[in-house]
Amino acid sequence: MQVAPSILSADFGILNEEVKSICDGGCDLVHVDVMDGHYVPNLTIGPVVVKSVAKVSTKPLDIHLMVQNNSFFVDLFAPLEPKYISFHIEEEKHPHRLIQKIRALGISPAITLNPHTPPEAIEFLIEDLDMVLLMSVNPGFGGQKFIPNVLERAKRLKEIIMKRNENCLIEVDGGVNDKNIHQLKDAGVDIVVAGSYIYGSDDRAKAIKSLQI
Ligand code: DX5
Ligand code: ZN
Repeated sequence: MQVAPSILSADFGILNEEVKSICDGGCDLVHVDVMDGHYVPNLTIGPVVVKSVAKVSTKPLDIHLMVQNNSFFVDLFAPLEPKYISFHIEEEKHPHRLIQKIRALGISPAITLNPHTPPEAIEFLIEDLDMVLLMSVNPGFGGQKFIPNVLERAKRLKEIIMKRNENCLIEVDGGVNDKNIHQLKDAGVDIVVAGSYIYGSDDRAKAIKSLQI
């Protein structure tokens, strides 16, 4: 299991140190939550701040867009050369076109599904994707309670992936901790995002390790 700590739960007053702490702690990716105050009722960071995160990070960036006008934000973040950019299927009229655009920029395209969206909604996009991000909370805030229907959604998504594109990874985001990590592993999940669990821990390296099962 790969682990992508979400910097949403970091102390932004000392952001460089907060990014270093998870990289030194052995994380696999650095998860960056981009919120625009329109698609979700919260506002976070733009490319100016993420540029300084990219500078200090020794791990690839995993950018999770929670915005309207995805294509505009892809253009803003592409110069930072993240590994992944994911966008919400619920907020995109032309997902197939946007996937091709992200790929052409040399970035791995990923689609995010909210807790109400069935994995079947993206069956015919799977062959073009490197990752699907399943939300296990409603997007917008860290520290929310895990919605367990993600386990069934992950299993159903895994079946589609085995049929259409075995290389596509499954990532889960929201309320992940050492209590639900084994269920997520059993459901076929490859990457977990964890914000409050890792940043709220006294020993971040140990918290990261507890999820790398
Ligand atoms: C929620 C974000 C998550 C959030 C996860 O909209 O996408 O990445 O930071 O935080 P926790 O792990 O605290 O639920
Ligand atoms: Zn996220």
